[in-house]
Amino acid sequence: METMLSDRLREGLRLRRMPSPCAVVIFGATGDLVRRRLIPDLYNLARKGLLPGAFAVVAVARRPFSTDTFRQQMQQAVHESAEVPYDRTVWEMFAEGIHYVQSEFHDPEGYRRLGAVLADLDRQRGLGGNRLFYLATPPSAYHIIIDRLGEARLAGEWTTGWARIIVEKPFGVDLETARALNRKVMEVFREAHVYRIDHYLGKETVQNLMIFRFANTIFEPIWTRQYVDHVQITVAESGGIGDRGGYYEEAGVVRDMLQNHLLQLLTLVAMEPPTAIEADAVRDEKVKVLHAVRPFTPEQALAFAAQGQYGRGAVDGEEAPAYREEGRVAPDSPTPTYIAVRMEIENWRWAGVPFYLRTGKRLPKRVTEIGIQFKLPPLILFRHAGVEDLEPNVLTLNIQPDEGITLRFAAKVPGQATRIRSVNMDFNYGTSFGVEEPTAYERLLLDAMVGDRTLFARRDEVEQAWSLVTPILEAWTAAPPVDFPNYEAGTWGPAAAKALIERDGRRWRRL
Ligand code: BG6
Repeated sequence: METMLSDRLREGLRLRRMPSPCAVVIFGATGDLVRRRLIPDLYNLARKGLLPGAFAVVAVARRPFSTDTFRQQMQQAVHESAEVPYDRTVWEMFAEGIHYVQSEFHDPEGYRRLGAVLADLDRQRGLGGNRLFYLATPPSAYHIIIDRLGEARLAGEWTTGWARIIVEKPFGVDLETARALNRKVMEVFREAHVYRIDHYLGKETVQNLMIFRFANTIFEPIWTRQYVDHVQITVAESGGIGDRGGYYEEAGVVRDMLQNHLLQLLTLVAMEPPTAIEADAVRDEKVKVLHAVRPFTPEQALAFAAQGQYGRGAVDGEEAPAYREEGRVAPDSPTPTYIAVRMEIENWRWAGVPFYLRTGKRLPKRVTEIGIQFKLPPLILFRHAGVEDLEPNVLTLNIQPDEGITLRFAAKVPGQATRIRSVNMDFNYGTSFGVEEPTAYERLLLDAMVGDRTLFARRDEVEQAWSLVTPILEAWTAAPPVDFPNYEAGTWGPAAAKALIERDGRRWRRL
């Protein structure tokens, strides 16, 4: 009986994740994201049997490719991908559903052709008129694509099935442009059909934050200002900006990382338990956190955020050029590649607990982690034994690359004297589960097909995140840096970042 029930439950859960028939329509299909992530990840979903039986990919881009050429290029991309195993039979079945439509993004004729291809696919493959549009173009094309989709009646009230849209980051370049983009999207799609993607939310370990906090009783009671001294969120990258100089010169670290990935991590660490693990309940709580973050005045933005740009150096024993020497970067570029910022969340749970966030390119290693540092216990008991200081307890959530959780606590060193040392208790995903994890994009693509928006940003969430980082952007534009480059590639960032935390009598964690 029990087995039957649990089998039925498992089946039910599995079925819930099976999307209905649909076409994924990718704009900007010849770009890097598509060959590196979207096609390999969609193919991998096919390999795992997670795509609906009736499925198609329609690639839209400007280059004059035929469907055959595009399929060949994507086959090569999948072949070359280190993350997905190539299976020829699966690829061939998957590739049959790939079609290429060549068009300029503003050309109404191209959308008529796209409409005709989709209508044919509906007939041949039984897709039921369901479409998932994916904007993987440069953001400058978003507005016109949305306009044309509406005009061509490919989305909105005229469609027979559902029409959803995934919008890649950057979602705007500041608060104003994010608002304008939201208004534009809303002209054609309802909020319920909009999926603003932040791939950090698709990472298993990021999702585990909620499970860790809310599926256990022992951590939540101490997850408060009574016990927590401060929180450190680090997203360190050893890579530089590669061939993305053109994009990065416009974006810089605040738009590229802080406004989205780091603030997402912050909200998940700090949010209250939602009433359900369901899109709006979760996002309501995340938005509340963003509203509780104390906004910076321009002066505070300069005082509580430190910026950096990498100069020449060495990473992993290899020489690395300065940011200003990278392709398509101005030789006197003021663009920051590093930020450290101290934020405060003014609510009942967190008042007085600083959150230090830092991220940068060309740091000594690639590591993302969240460190919750607890307050020290009174020392009285151990003074007579000559113990002068204790190390605080630290709970570390390792997001990547060594996914796991570590708790650091004090233990007695064996022997006659009272000596105390910190030791680690470790949980490691790899050794505990040893199963293949879906990539972030696999998870998020499937969620969008299933219609689950929990791991996507809501309109108010994106706008509030922008309003928090805008004072930093403005303050830095008004007072351009005079000391760039101010950290060597392969080091842990500028001196100002160190000073920022040491001013409070604290230190960055050594990673
Ligand atoms: C992207 C940024 O969103 O995230 C990149 O544009 C950055 O600059 C990347 O390198 C980091 O993602 P991950 O998953 O490698 O940590």
